[in-house]
Amino acid sequence: MSKSNITTVGVIGLGYVGLPTAIGFHDAGFEVWGVDVSQRTVDMVRAGENPTGDPDVNDIVPAPGTERWNITTSTAEAVPHCDVVLVTVPTPITHDLKPDLSYVEAAGRAVFEAIPKGSNTIVVLESTVYPGVTAQTKQRLEFRQESNRHAHQKTYSHPIT
Ligand SMILES: NC(=O)c1ccc[n+]([C@@H]2O[C@H](COP(=O)([O-])OP(=O)(O)OC[C@H]3O[C@@H](n4cnc5c(N)ncnc54)[C@H](O)[C@@H]3O)[C@@H](O)[C@H]2O)c1
Repeated sequence: MSKSNITTVGVIGLGYVGLPTAIGFHDAGFEVWGVDVSQRTVDMVRAGENPTGDPDVNDIVPAPGTERWNITTSTAEAVPHCDVVLVTVPTPITHDLKPDLSYVEAAGRAVFEAIPKGSNTIVVLESTVYPGVTAQTKQRLEFRQESNRHAHQKTYSHPIT
């Protein structure tokens, strides 16, 4: 896939990072699929409202019916449309001060399960993680998902980890 062939971008997690990112790609002319597990978030974004609490986002959420703007709770629905998938889910700290990677793992699992076999989908982990997490998570997910192992997925983190 060359850069010029990327037409559709998925964003998994429509919070402080994900929603403005999705809007930015839409403004730049890309087809966008935005996913959030929160029904409230999805309902608000679909209604053109800002669920994040960030005042900078108040007036820039696309209105209902806007072309190239698709918002859903279903990663399985969104990902097959996407050339690139950005994962922007939370990475909080556990009560014993360890990084909680459960959101990254759950989102990653849903993304990898939804990538069509043989596709060249690029997955980018934008969530804040320590060095090595992207490679470790990808290996674990690929190991679990025997059926998808021949898909030609590329996984990147930003910044590189
Ligand atoms: N907020 C910032 O300024 C900032 C800056 C740099 C990096 N980050 C990093 O970016 C990541 C996201 O931060 P944020 O502030 O946007 O978090 P956030 O809590 O505002 O948003 C995350 C969203 O992801 C959704 N989500 C959780 N699990 C999901 C899943 N499996 N599938 C789909 N959606 C899911 C949540 O419902 C929520 O709406 C974190 O790793 C954070 O450390 C944040």
